[in-house]
Amino acid sequence: MTRAPNLSSRYHLVSFERLDSTNEEACRLAREGAREFTIVCAREQTAGRGRRNRGWVSPPGNLYLSLILRPEKPLTETVQLSFVAAVALGETLDPIIPEGVDISYKWPNDVFLAGRKAAGILLESSSRRDRVKWLVLGLGLNLKSPPQDVSTPATSLKAVGAAGVTAVDMLERFCFCFEKCYTRWQEEGFPSLREAWLSRVLGLGGPIEVELEKERLSGTFLDLDASGALVLGQGGGVTRIITAGDVFFPQAR
Ligand code: BTN
Repeated sequence: MTRAPNLSSRYHLVSFERLDSTNEEACRLAREGAREFTIVCAREQTAGRGRRNRGWVSPPGNLYLSLILRPEKPLTETVQLSFVAAVALGETLDPIIPEGVDISYKWPNDVFLAGRKAAGILLESSSRRDRVKWLVLGLGLNLKSPPQDVSTPATSLKAVGAAGVTAVDMLERFCFCFEKCYTRWQEEGFPSLREAWLSRVLGLGGPIEVELEKERLSGTFLDLDASGALVLGQGGGVTRIITAGDVFFPQAR
């Protein structure tokens, strides 16, 4: 880090020059009992991980962070946290991104700038019965270098004209917005955050394909349900509730 970040007293920052994965380190700390709002950052990752066992290319220059949370909520509700984090990141980017550059969300947990992926969110957790013991929320945000070898077209803050923002600036701004959104989620639940997410989601009402573990479905992106699942319309009033998968937009392929 170029300077010590100025974070609210709720956060406890653990910062590294290089790590295999900030999520890996945060999961380890969580298992050892680290307190809520412990946040692990690294300037680079050698084994950054993404959703569905993919890697996350992590050279120096981008933001890599993982936050330990211990919400007093049933496990089923905690999936909403990836949407809470996406909304917080959208609010973080609002004052930074040049006018005319669209900030949007792609189900389940990507943040796009000008139609390309700029950030990904990865939730990992440990639970007992229906209660969450801990949860790690990982965020990778491309400040300078978007990965080149990925199936989803990627971008960075620099590429959309927000070149001067450092990792420390972004960390401070994101932590501020996330704390507000998290408190809102804990006190009021998911409805207003769901609305905020839906107001910027890509492809709502249009044709999509959803890749699941073993099949690929086509249909219409009808809604995000109250739990955070995607509602896929398949014609004739048939709907499928999708809790995990990757979304593609047919016309864009
Ligand atoms: C995705 O879009 O697949 C999610 C990517 C999440 C990447 C971040 S970078 C910081 C944290 N540490 C990791 O190993 N992964 C997450």
